[in-house]
Amino acid sequence: MKKIAVIGGDGTGPEVVSEGVKVLNAVSKRHDISLELLPMDINGERYLRTGDILTDQDLEQLNTSDAIYLGAIGHPDIQPGVLERGILLKLRFDLDQYINYRPVKLYPNVDSPIKHVTPEAIDYVVIRENTGGLYSGIGEFKEKNTPNEVATQAMVYTYKQVERCIRFAFETVKKRHQSTPWRGLSQDQVSKGMIGQLTLCGKTNVLTYVFDLWERVFHDVAKEYPTINTNYTHVDAVCVHMIERPEIFDVIVTSNMFGDIITDLAAVTQGGMGVAASGNINPDGVSMFEPIGGTAPLFTGKNEINPIAAISAAHLMLDHLGFNEAADHVESAKIKVIQQMKSMLAGKMGFKTTEIGNMICNEIYHMAHF
Ligand code: IPM
Ligand code: MG
Repeated sequence: MKKIAVIGGDGTGPEVVSEGVKVLNAVSKRHDISLELLPMDINGERYLRTGDILTDQDLEQLNTSDAIYLGAIGHPDIQPGVLERGILLKLRFDLDQYINYRPVKLYPNVDSPIKHVTPEAIDYVVIRENTGGLYSGIGEFKEKNTPNEVATQAMVYTYKQVERCIRFAFETVKKRHQSTPWRGLSQDQVSKGMIGQLTLCGKTNVLTYVFDLWERVFHDVAKEYPTINTNYTHVDAVCVHMIERPEIFDVIVTSNMFGDIITDLAAVTQGGMGVAASGNINPDGVSMFEPIGGTAPLFTGKNEINPIAAISAAHLMLDHLGFNEAADHVESAKIKVIQQMKSMLAGKMGFKTTEIGNMICNEIYHMAHF
């Protein structure tokens, strides 16, 4: 039995999460898995009503769950940052979810704004460090509101923070290529026993302290993974490659801020926010899974938002919890339903939000292979 805290959140969050919950129920029936789904009232509406962002009771409940399934947080009547810092970032920090795991995959029948790109070319994972760097909240104003004002925001990393992130990234490469080596390796590399590649994304030419540390740790840890090819690319060049030759990537590891930026760009290349999901992972604790699209206020309550990203987040969660067959089943059902959709854009999908959830459940009940 696994306990999952379900936070629909704000805007279209509850709508997409409810489709994900349908899918979780369907797949747990077919695979005889026992999931206890606990809906939690954590969102902007409640904050406006009661002043509570995250109560001690919420935190206790979340702390004792096996995973958290989150829709989206954000409210037009609340100053930007309040809920993000008070809920999303607080959970990442308090639960020490030090990895942001972002698969980037272009599925067949999904439009990418990159001309002539094929699904085979976009299939990689970004491992973003999720608790440190520019997100540490260290900084200050000096002489605020005067012409001499100086504002600082520090990018701070410890060896240990960097090391655990990089180690996780190497392990991700290993896990991805347990059965077949990465397609981007040369014959020569494969014959030498190589299985995949890890790219460090940084800015060693300017951020000469922080990325010096990252590079040293990267090389230290790489010694333990002789079957993984390693390379380094500056973050600005990574952006260029993500558009011009995305097939060169297998797994990318990077800092918190760079990861935030490049994963949104990556989402666009894979068909947009309607498709992309992420896991905020603490390998030894409680992890949280979410679609990355946000609250989409223009589409709230219309049954028009794309639930595919939320269903992908459910897939990541099942996989993380060790229900690998059930996870594969969700993934296959999702791919089949994507074939029938007109577009990944909200309102243009050819189906309603709830219809897409139902179609995926239907596939789960009737798919022969599983
Ligand atoms: C993300 C989001 C968050 C971040 C915001 C909402 C605080 O952009 O999950 O990528 O910057 O990490
Ligand atoms: Mg972001």
